[in-house]
Amino acid sequence: MPPPEKLAVTTHKKADAATTLRASEIAARLGVTFEARRGRSLARLQREAAASMLYVLQLERDEIVDGEQILFTNPGRYTLKILDGAAHPLVRAAAPPGAAPVDRVIDATLGMAGDALHLAGALNAQIDGFEASAPLAELLREGLARMTAARRKWAAAAARVRVQAGDAADLLAAMPPASAPVVLLDPMFDRPLGAPPAFDLLRRLARSEPLDLSLLDAACRVATRRVVLKIPGASPVPRLPGQREHFNRRVRGQAVDYLIIERELPPDGSMSQP
Ligand SMILES: C[S@@+](CC[C@H](N)C(=O)[O-])C[C@H]1O[C@@H](n2cnc3c(N)ncnc32)[C@H](O)[C@@H]1O
Repeated sequence: MPPPEKLAVTTHKKADAATTLRASEIAARLGVTFEARRGRSLARLQREAAASMLYVLQLERDEIVDGEQILFTNPGRYTLKILDGAAHPLVRAAAPPGAAPVDRVIDATLGMAGDALHLAGALNAQIDGFEASAPLAELLREGLARMTAARRKWAAAAARVRVQAGDAADLLAAMPPASAPVVLLDPMFDRPLGAPPAFDLLRRLARSEPLDLSLLDAACRVATRRVVLKIPGASPVPRLPGQREHFNRRVRGQAVDYLIIERELPPDGSMSQP
């Protein structure tokens, strides 16, 4: 087992009182120390705080930093993905052509919110995102607020993504049954080809367990229309011991596929094989 991460929170070198206050509030929420910057380089501060990584309130954005590696919330390939419209595999998985529109999605494994932002934009939907890692959830809140405020193509989509820190199985279990049309699950899988170096930071912070039955059951309890599971392309359909609801549709993408549990089967029983 790798040692647990030790995080400390700091600011840029010219932080004003409001930034310093926000940094100490983030540290308190995360239960870690706030380190005043006092003109130190990040490398020196990290060493003196004996931290394995730093949460830094920079001038323009919040970052999680370890040496050369920097993680921050960004729109990624939003502009390209949105060009595919309803034809994009994720959109076809969450809202197949001809089916009723989807106005809300629970993204139970928010990560860096790439899928959440995409679905918020493509479906014009409200996204409730759950993230097990509290530092990632902090980073996402700041980043989504920043993207909302910037007058860019993704601003309206970013405004529709809400972030809640916590275990998705617990958060879903606390929701009323049948209370959201779609639940998206994208647990961690192996490092994608060509992943940027910051992916290692994400991996170190992220909950890394594969899909388990309590999460799948909790998703099925809440979803009225469908549960969508993202998996590596062409990989076999997972079958968990005790699984009651089965995947009955598959949408193939370039590097990833989507397995779907449709809660309302079409009357003629037609469904693509998973
Ligand atoms: C592969 S990433 C998701 C990437 C995301 N779809 C995106 O587009 O950026 C998986 C994320 O889900 C989180 N996660 C895994 N299991 C979770 C759980 N049970 N509850 C909440 N978050 C979870 C991990 O911490 C990680 O950040």
